[in-house]
Amino acid sequence: MIRVKVPATTANIGPGFDAIGIALNLYNYVDIEKRSDHQQNIQFTSDFTIEDSQNLTLTALIYTLERYSAVTRGFDLIIHENNIPLSRGLGSSAAAIVAGIYCANYLLDNRLSQQEIINMATELEGHPDNVVPAILGNMVISVFQNKQVTYSVVEIDADLIFKVLIPSFELSTSKARAAMPKEYPLCDCVNNISKVSLLVSAFYSKNYALLEVALQDHIHEPYRLPLIPDSNKILDQLKAIGLYGSFISGAGPTLIGLTDNANDSFDTQIEAHLNSLSHKWTLRSLTADTQGAQYIPL
Ligand code: HSE
Repeated sequence: MIRVKVPATTANIGPGFDAIGIALNLYNYVDIEKRSDHQQNIQFTSDFTIEDSQNLTLTALIYTLERYSAVTRGFDLIIHENNIPLSRGLGSSAAAIVAGIYCANYLLDNRLSQQEIINMATELEGHPDNVVPAILGNMVISVFQNKQVTYSVVEIDADLIFKVLIPSFELSTSKARAAMPKEYPLCDCVNNISKVSLLVSAFYSKNYALLEVALQDHIHEPYRLPLIPDSNKILDQLKAIGLYGSFISGAGPTLIGLTDNANDSFDTQIEAHLNSLSHKWTLRSLTADTQGAQYIPL
């Protein structure tokens, strides 16, 4: 039996809509074992019991086996407690898809190349910005065209802290995508092109002072913030206490602020503000995951 460990991810990072994501040190785990017969068993070790037919890990596993003509391969799949919250913009569906493909690859004696895994995960998810950093770790910039992902990894400092603010309510990616226009004025496109270029340079050169401007987005955040109660108040507060900049994590509703200052007073100030709001929000301080999805021998 082998364990698959997959990190959470935050996608978009402001202006990098559907293109940029960063892996975070929060993980889901599944175990997979080959069987000599053709039985396919799935177990849950917690009370997280999404119906088998809706379970993305199982769907991705079976899809991969079918693709490699190994659909009758028997296995025991154990899905452990999911640490990545569902429908919060932290890449839970991407982690499930990547876990499923990694399990299938184990059953297939590691026949798939990393590029094949990346392309298939992106095809299943529909966009690359969560699945590719979930596979590779760090920040990844991805282009998906003609069913092929071209990507570049930017290493993220261990001392960059992601102040992750997770609300008690969910926001589905489909609802958050439906809120966006189909066409944009040229000035919004120019703004995003310039800011996303600055963003990549800011992370690459570790010039975090650029982030306040570089994280500003004109493509999705203006249309999604109204779907997230108190989000404008929270973002104003993160700016007031001195974070470099902030953004909606993926499609939301989680919000993230960035700092490299380990000063605990930030947490006290953020929590005091969150406690004054009508919905419950949980603050977590995370750092970038630098390894991506891993097999752990048991
Ligand atoms: N780039 C995607 C979006 C991430 O913002 O809709 C959500 O999975």
